[in-house]
Amino acid sequence: MASLSRREVEQGLPWVWTPDKLRRFAKLASTNIYVAEIDSRVVGFSIASLGDARAHLVLLAVDRRWRKSGIGRELLDWQLRAGLTAGLADMSLEVRANNKSAQQFYAAAGFRKLRVLPRYYSGLEDGIRFRLSPLRVSQPMQQKKSLQPDE
Ligand SMILES: CC(C)(COP(=O)(O)OP(=O)(O)OC[C@H]1O[C@@H](n2cnc3c(N)ncnc32)[C@H](O)[C@@H]1OP(=O)(O)O)[C@@H](O)C(=O)NCCC(=O)NCCS
Repeated sequence: MASLSRREVEQGLPWVWTPDKLRRFAKLASTNIYVAEIDSRVVGFSIASLGDARAHLVLLAVDRRWRKSGIGRELLDWQLRAGLTAGLADMSLEVRANNKSAQQFYAAAGFRKLRVLPRYYSGLEDGIRFRLSPLRVSQPMQQKKSLQPDE
C-alpha cells in the first residue's frame, strides 16, 4: 500500500504514507482498510477513518494498469457501506488540486467540492476538500465482470 501510495498518489511530493506510518495508522481502532488483490497482488486499496459522527477517506489508489475497471468505485463503496453501517452522517476527503481525474471520480460518486485548502500538500500544492452528505452508496452491489489490465 505504501509503494502504491508513493507511486500513484504522492508522486512529486514528499513521501508521507511510508510503511511505518501506514502500519501505525492501521492499528488504530478507527481505521478501516480494504485491499483489492488480483492473483495475490495488491492492485488497489482504500483507507478511511471512521469517527463518532463522520467518516474521512484518507487514501484511495488503484494501480494504473487496472484503472477504469470499477475497482476504485468498489473500494470507495465498501468504505461508504462501512460508514452507513456505523450510522455516520457524511464522508469527506482531500484531493490534489491538479488531480482532475480523481476529482471527476469523486464527483461521479456524488461528492461535492467544499473548498480549496491552500498549500495543503507539504506546502507545495493546494488541496480540494470534497464531501458526500448525507452518506450514501453510489451503486448497488453487483456481479463483477472479469477484469483485464491495461498494457
Ligand atoms: C481515482 C482512482 C482511484 C479511480 O479508480 P478507478 O478504478 O480507475 O475508477 P473506476 O473505474 O471505479 O471509475 C468509476 C467512475 O469514476 C469516474 N472516473 C474514473 N476515472 C476517471 C478519469 N480518469 N477521468 C474521469 N472520470 C473518471 C468515471 O465516472 C467512472 O465511471 P465509468 O467507468 O462508468 O465512466 C484512480 O484513478 C487512481 O488511483 N488515481 C491515482 C490516485 C488518486 O488520485 N487517488 C485519489 C486521491 S487520494
